[in-house]
Amino acid sequence: MRGKLVVANWKMHKSQAEAAMCAEQIGRGVRDNANVDVAICPPFLALQAVRHAMPNNLVRLGAQDVFWADEGAFTGRVSARMLAEAGCTFCIVGHSETRGRFGKLEVPESTVGFFAETDETVNLKLKALLYHSINPILCVGETMAEREAGQTDAVIRGQLAAAVTDIEPAELYSFAVAYEPVWAIGTGMTCDAAEANRVCGMIRGVLADVVEPDVADYVRILYGGSVKAGNAAELFAQPEIDGGLVGGASLDPDEFVKIVQSA
Ligand code: PGA
Repeated sequence: MRGKLVVANWKMHKSQAEAAMCAEQIGRGVRDNANVDVAICPPFLALQAVRHAMPNNLVRLGAQDVFWADEGAFTGRVSARMLAEAGCTFCIVGHSETRGRFGKLEVPESTVGFFAETDETVNLKLKALLYHSINPILCVGETMAEREAGQTDAVIRGQLAAAVTDIEPAELYSFAVAYEPVWAIGTGMTCDAAEANRVCGMIRGVLADVVEPDVADYVRILYGGSVKAGNAAELFAQPEIDGGLVGGASLDPDEFVKIVQSA
């Protein structure tokens, strides 16, 4: 039986002091929910503040991105080895924002190309994380244009297959997939629970195909995209949805704790 996993993605929000305060409140709030795994992914600079604000083991630490080399002349990058040393046990990979596939129109076209994440870099990052025993949370999802063109399943299949290329199935027991429709991220437009369940089931089928059935049964598949306290229970009640990746609503500790409680 797969346990639920609920992950906070704080993106580029919170100072170190704010992060510590918020993590402490979340840690206290989820004390009685030991059956749900909870992780917080703060900005890199707040990782230590969050780590020290959560002395118990109930909330795990995660990063929002990683670079695949262990060390070298890569100005501004952070490696999986560094994340492991910093106490991270989770890391988001291939988020639509790092892939430059924004659902929000206020991001100018000219900005998008600078994010430069590709299927190939996602694959390299997965390998680096697995090597350092950090659980990757791989994000996949379609844009609105792709959905309207009937390409949702094909786009996601392509993202999944590319991400796991040349990775031994046995290594993939520790990873999670987050289905994040790009059009639902930060827009308030949540994917209908039945459709989110269908896509998560489809993802499990693809994993059975391109990895192996045992791994597909074991891997947790999360939903992300405008998850809130008000819609979390319906989403998490779906049989194929094993939890959530929560952006905006995770910035408020009370709201995030309610989301965890719905799981
Ligand atoms: P959101 O973001 O909850 O603000 O829509 C989710 C995500 O980007 O992971």
